[in-house]
Amino acid sequence: MENETRKKRIFSGIQPSGDLTLGSYMGAISNWVAMQDEYDCVYCIVDMHAITVRQDPAELRRRALAQLAQYIACGLDPEKSILFIQSHVPQHAELSWVLGCYTQFGELSRMTQFKQKSQQHADNITAGLFTYPVLMAADILLYQADAVPVGADQKQHVELCRDVAQRFNGIYGDVFTLPEPFIPKIGARVMSLADPANKMSKSDPDGCVFLMDAPDAVRRKFKRAVTDCDSSVRFDREAKPGVSNLLTIFCAATGSTLEQAEVEFAGQGYGAFKSAVADAVIALTDPIRTESQKLMQDKAYLENIYRDGAARAAAIARRTLRKVYKKVGFVER
Ligand code: AQP
Repeated sequence: MENETRKKRIFSGIQPSGDLTLGSYMGAISNWVAMQDEYDCVYCIVDMHAITVRQDPAELRRRALAQLAQYIACGLDPEKSILFIQSHVPQHAELSWVLGCYTQFGELSRMTQFKQKSQQHADNITAGLFTYPVLMAADILLYQADAVPVGADQKQHVELCRDVAQRFNGIYGDVFTLPEPFIPKIGARVMSLADPANKMSKSDPDGCVFLMDAPDAVRRKFKRAVTDCDSSVRFDREAKPGVSNLLTIFCAATGSTLEQAEVEFAGQGYGAFKSAVADAVIALTDPIRTESQKLMQDKAYLENIYRDGAARAAAIARRTLRKVYKKVGFVER
C-alpha cells in the first residue's frame, strides 16, 4: 500500500447529469461533509460517467461548474478536501481500461443500474453504460480509498470494485486498498415523491427535489407528494411507502429520530405534515441555493479550485497507475 501511516482515505463522486438532488445530499454529500476532518477526502464531479447517456455538451459543461459551486455551498471545503473534475485526471480512463481486462462480462451483466438504465435508454445502450462500474472501480482504486460514502443504490458497484481489486491483488500482490461502502442509517435511499416505489432521481424531475429549487417549488412538490388514504403519520415502508419516505426525509433534514417524528406528527393530518417536511427541507436547501448562486458569480475562484484539485488528485493517481502498469508488464515510459 502506498503509505501505511496516512489518514484513512475517502473517495466519492456524483455525475453532473443534472443539479444535485435531495437524495444525493442525504445519501452521500451530507456524509462527505461530516467526514472531512477525520479522513483524507477526495471528491469528484464524474463527468465521464455522465456521458454514458447522451448529454447536451453546453449543459454538461455548465452543470459540472455548478456542481462544484453546489459542493462548496453544501460545506465541502477545498482547503480540507480535494475537489476536482474527473476528465481532468486522465488516469481514471487509463486505469479503467486495465481493470476492464480483469472484470467479467457476466459480473457487469448482473448490475442492477445497468439493467434499469438500459431499459430507460433502450435506443442507446452503449458499451460505456455497460462498463460504467469499471470506471467507478478505477475512480475508487486510483486513490487507494478505504471507504466510499454512497447511497444504497451504489452498494453493488462498490462490491464489484472490491471483487475486481481482490482479483487483481490475488494475481499481482497488494496493489489496491479494498474499499468499504459507507451507507448512512437514515437517507440511504430517498424515494421519489411522485412514486415512492422508485428512488428519487435527477431523471425523474416530478418526484425529485433539487437543491437549487426555490422554496415555493419545494413546497409545491411536497404538497403533491403521494401518500395513502389512511391519514396516520407513522413509519411502515411496506404499507405506507409515501409517508415513510416523507418521515425519513424529515429525520434526515432535522436530525430527529423516526420515533420522535412519529410523536411530533401524531394526530396531525397529511396537509400539516407535508408542510412541516417542506419547511425542514427548505431550511436545509435554501442557504445552499443562495451560497451556490453567489459562488457561480466568481468563475475565477471555481477555476482555481478545480485546477488545484486536479493537480493534487493526479499526484496520487499517477503513483497508483505507475504501479499497476509495472505489475501488468507494460514497458516504463
Ligand atoms: N434517492 C437517493 N437516495 C439516497 N442516495 C442517493 N443517491 C442518488 N440518489 C439517491 C446517491 O447520491 C450519489 C449520486 O450519484 P449519481 O448522481 O452519480 O448517480 P445516480 O445514483 O445515478 O443518481 P440519479 O439521481 O439517479 O441520476 P440519474 O437520474 O442521472 O440516473 C450516489 O452516491 C448515490 O448513491
